[in-house]
Amino acid sequence: MKTMNRSSEYLLQVENLTVEFRTDDETVRVVDGVSFAIRRGEILGLVGESGSGKSVSSLAIMGLLPPSMAKITDGHILFDGQDLLRMQPSEIRRIRGNRIGMIFQEPLTALNPVFTVGHQIITGIRAHEAIRWNDARTRAIELLGLVGIADPSVAIDAYPFQMSGGMRQRVLIAMALSSDPDLLIADEPTTALDVTIQAQILDLLRKIREKTGIAILFITHDLAVISELCDNVAVLYAGEIQERGPVDEIFSKPRHPYTQGLLSCIADPTSKQPLMPIEGTPPLLSEVSGCRFSPRCRHALDGCHAKHPEIQYLENEQEIRCLYWQEILRN
Ligand SMILES: Nc1ncnc2c1ncn2[C@@H]1O[C@H](COP(=O)(O)OP(=O)(O)OP(=O)(O)O)[C@@H](O)[C@H]1O
Ligand SMILES: [Mg+2]
Repeated sequence: MKTMNRSSEYLLQVENLTVEFRTDDETVRVVDGVSFAIRRGEILGLVGESGSGKSVSSLAIMGLLPPSMAKITDGHILFDGQDLLRMQPSEIRRIRGNRIGMIFQEPLTALNPVFTVGHQIITGIRAHEAIRWNDARTRAIELLGLVGIADPSVAIDAYPFQMSGGMRQRVLIAMALSSDPDLLIADEPTTALDVTIQAQILDLLRKIREKTGIAILFITHDLAVISELCDNVAVLYAGEIQERGPVDEIFSKPRHPYTQGLLSCIADPTSKQPLMPIEGTPPLLSEVSGCRFSPRCRHALDGCHAKHPEIQYLENEQEIRCLYWQEILRN
């Protein structure tokens, strides 16, 4: 692990992050007051249905939102105590290259088909470090070994099409780790893979965390994956965090009706169905008042449609956004 400024307990603190998208005739707030934090070495899962704002949140952290369409209208993103939203673009690029790595869902499109994987890893290493090609190649072989690729000194000269989807995802993880980052952001990195390979990749991420002390923000629509991998979880719905806390707590005693609904649909861990456990669909974000989940909530009372619930902070670092969670638990 690198020596780091340990002034704060947290590596990443996202506070009140608010992102709006502008189209010709309207502005839609797709991420609304999202707050969470990740300690060094922690794996935080960010879970939610399609369209809940997971990718937009992660792109905001990486400084990769398209500026012509998306605007961060509020909030702070503190990385190691420094606010990424108030930095010069060159500084953000330096942090993104060196201290935050990112992997995405689709391993084939993220790799260039005309270059060997070695070429791509080496070029990546040399983009943020003054290092000779041969030394970078040695490091690339080590990285391929770290991510569990057999015979890395041979695999380094393979083209992406010569590899399986699982191997390509390992290559992308190797690339993301090449600068020895403090934080890895993984946006649905296993969704395109079959369950066996998915389990291997999760296992790999766990081992890498143990070995390197890296913190991981792991984004998924699948709570079963969260239970396999994460220490803590934040449940996102319609651009807002509805519940957050330690994975053990949330899985043994989900308090929010939305989390309860999500959990009730993971009885079959081999199911690759998209997440639709609860009747209905998320609201159009421009049209919500009251609790955003209330139109689909089987416990909703009149008050839920009228009053927008604030986050309540509980013990064990748990948080919940539901007016009646105590009554619901009692019944
Ligand atoms: N370029 C864009 N222009 C307008 N709206 C957008 C754009 N990108 C995303 N959105 C909207 O922002 C919201 C959040 O999208 P986001 O991609 O973060 O969802 P997600 O939680 O990552 O979903 P998925 O599980 O499908 O990846 C959605 O309602 C989406 O329609
Ligand atoms: Mg997404």
